[in-house]
Amino acid sequence: MYKINTNYQKLPGSYLFSNIAKKVAAFQEANPDKEIIRLGIGDVTRPLTNSVIDALHKAVDEMGDADTFRGYAPDLGYDFLRDAICKWDYVRRGCDIAADEIFVSDGAKSDSGNIQELFATDNKIAVCDPVYPVYVDSNVMGGRCGNYDSTLEKWSDIIYMPTTAENGFVPEFPKETPDIIYLCFPNNPTGTTITKAQLQEWVDYANKNGCLIIYDAAYEAYISEEDVAHSIYECEGAKTCAIEIRSFSKNAGFTGVRLGFTVVPKELKCDGVSLHDMWARRHGTKFNGAPYIIQRAGEAVYSEAGQKEVQELVGYYMNNAKTIREGLKDAGFEVYGGVNAPYIWMKTPDKMTSWEFFDYLLENACVVGTPGSGFGPSGEHYFRLTAFGTLEKSKKALERIKNL
Ligand code: MLT
Repeated sequence: MYKINTNYQKLPGSYLFSNIAKKVAAFQEANPDKEIIRLGIGDVTRPLTNSVIDALHKAVDEMGDADTFRGYAPDLGYDFLRDAICKWDYVRRGCDIAADEIFVSDGAKSDSGNIQELFATDNKIAVCDPVYPVYVDSNVMGGRCGNYDSTLEKWSDIIYMPTTAENGFVPEFPKETPDIIYLCFPNNPTGTTITKAQLQEWVDYANKNGCLIIYDAAYEAYISEEDVAHSIYECEGAKTCAIEIRSFSKNAGFTGVRLGFTVVPKELKCDGVSLHDMWARRHGTKFNGAPYIIQRAGEAVYSEAGQKEVQELVGYYMNNAKTIREGLKDAGFEVYGGVNAPYIWMKTPDKMTSWEFFDYLLENACVVGTPGSGFGPSGEHYFRLTAFGTLEKSKKALERIKNL
């Protein structure tokens, strides 16, 4: 008789954003006349830009012509895209990354969930708390996290590194040395970040202790301050201890299009075994490449016009972030983030739990946000609002919150 992967049964409830979507759908059904403003999941609202649309049209036409039609994409990505990424995201920033160290995929979420497959089940992982739930849930599925304690809301075998207002949202080196460390900067969910010097300390720590850093840089386009690294490879020594995951979702609005990439340097070796070769093997076996038309759209993001458009998109969302952040501050809320990231992280008022505030806001202002505790126990009494809505709706949400 067949057996299931019982690690799935250890997972409490459903995925955070599926859970919220169900709650919101139930509220809308019970209140069909109410206009809900969704500032929950970090999904973009601006349309794809002209350069991207033109590239998509052109690529679609190519697919309809026998002379230019393409079948399976190369499983690690087309050279035209890997070269563009290499040039714009790495060489331009002084990072010594080669195009063949870049693995194109259908998105950062898939890569951050799949990467754990490369590692033994007895690796101990460390995560910031609060954290993007994919890192934890995918490791649970992989049998790496022990058991869930519903009172503490923690997994027995995960090392939690609290990032709260008390430590300025900068994780401290854990007492117990982890094997694998997940870092995401600019951070989801807190919208805060660390300086390049602080990131360098993590790289040094990882190299010294034989740890691997899985670095999620999905929000790098939102960095507005000078002393923040756009890539972990700006830090010395990162190529021997870090994998970096990137996305086209947040900078170029590809959430519904799907494109991302992961950098695995060739120097990254575990006991002489190349992680680059392992990830290539995995891609070759399990992935047939991101679609040609989407990779052409990704290439267009790196054109001169494409880069200008990205700046405009990012500028639009960051104006929302500023509007929400300053508006909430004026209304007396304690607010963080939103300077180098499209997330605003606020303290719930009157010691409400994160979920109490979620319900209160939905019922009384018809505004959806994300409860901080959904990202981990240290997220309790915090609440996340995204800047990815429209300016008009962001302002309207703010007015409603102020009038509560
Ligand atoms: C979020 O809201 O945290 C993000 O949309 C999640 C994601 O990018 O998958």
